[in-house]
Amino acid sequence: MTSLLVDRIGELVTNEPGGRDPLAIRRDAAVVVVDGQIAWIGPTGGAPACDVRVDASNRAVIPGFVDSHTHLVFAGDRSGEFAARMAGEPYTGGGIRRTVAATNAAPDTELSANLAYLQRELTRQGTTTFETKSGYGLGVDTEARLLRIARGVTPETTFLGAHVVPDEYKDRPDDYVALVCGPMLDACAPHARWVDAFCERGAFDADQSRAVLTAGVAVGLAPRLHANQLGDGPGVRLGVELGAAAVDHCTHLSDADIDALAGGDTVATLLPGVEFSTRSPYPPARRLLDAGVTVALATDCNPGSSFTSSMPFCVALAVREMHLTPAEALWCATAGGAAALRRTDVGTITAGASADLVVLDAPSHVHLAYRPGVPLVHTVVANGEIAYQQGNS
Ligand code: NIG
Ligand code: FE
Repeated sequence: MTSLLVDRIGELVTNEPGGRDPLAIRRDAAVVVVDGQIAWIGPTGGAPACDVRVDASNRAVIPGFVDSHTHLVFAGDRSGEFAARMAGEPYTGGGIRRTVAATNAAPDTELSANLAYLQRELTRQGTTTFETKSGYGLGVDTEARLLRIARGVTPETTFLGAHVVPDEYKDRPDDYVALVCGPMLDACAPHARWVDAFCERGAFDADQSRAVLTAGVAVGLAPRLHANQLGDGPGVRLGVELGAAAVDHCTHLSDADIDALAGGDTVATLLPGVEFSTRSPYPPARRLLDAGVTVALATDCNPGSSFTSSMPFCVALAVREMHLTPAEALWCATAGGAAALRRTDVGTITAGASADLVVLDAPSHVHLAYRPGVPLVHTVVANGEIAYQQGNS
């Protein structure tokens, strides 16, 4: 049983609930990690001796980022679509089928290697917990294959067979929904924790999305939903009604959507990398926060609408473009992400929590937005182990 001490922390963001400051910042602090968990937090100098010491040298330490929404199991490149969008083309989601074709043609070894590459990117940028999903297979065996590969790297796996209707079902979408709710779900459920659908015009309507989520819940999966990305729609309210842990995107929200979120316990997950990469208006984050809704920030890392794995970049976008304070944005990217995954063991640096923390090469968390695009992650501890150190890998 190895113990690890991180001391001389100038600013320690704990996210400990209950106080007036949501970040519950401590100064000149130390953290002791034993057996993958936070064992002790106190002043530098008061900590017990440990096997390994990380001297934070007055830097800031934050909880590891919790990226509650990614699509990392895929093959192929869609940079041409991005270039076309920057020249004026709209994003419609139609390119999803291009990734489906490339993914289905790729062997497991290629998909696993791509996933490992992206996982390293996430780690180097301070993400210690992430969700990822299927959705680029759209067949019984291919969706199960993507989830099996995803399960190898995270317990937070989501079945998204209802991503779009594949070409072979385009004239009979309800037959595809029946396939998703039947044989595809049966094949995928053993590898998934969550069930999701893309509830959007051009993808799945409210009845179809309801059918998929209800079928998933019936076999023990927990619901979450892609909603209100490309336009107004019923997705957010449907998610709240079905008790979804989170509704994700929330780009186009009516007052009724915000009231529904404020009245339920569904988290609104905002994905500002999408608005950046599709040149769309940003979600009304301030209205959500002012209404008391729990907000999460995530990357939505995927080859189409948002090919960034960087939570620091999303924090900077949330501050600059959605008017969150740097403290609010950091909370949403850590504790907010944990709430979106219904996890109480991550997203905080508190006794008993999973020892997931990031030493920033900066004196304060504010630098995450103040110094956009700068690699500020100095050291990453994930599950009690040093997963990354600047200059060492
Ligand atoms: O979350 N909205 C649906 N799915 C993804 C985009 C997938 C793609 O374009 O490949 C999203 O943005
Ligand atoms: Fe997504």
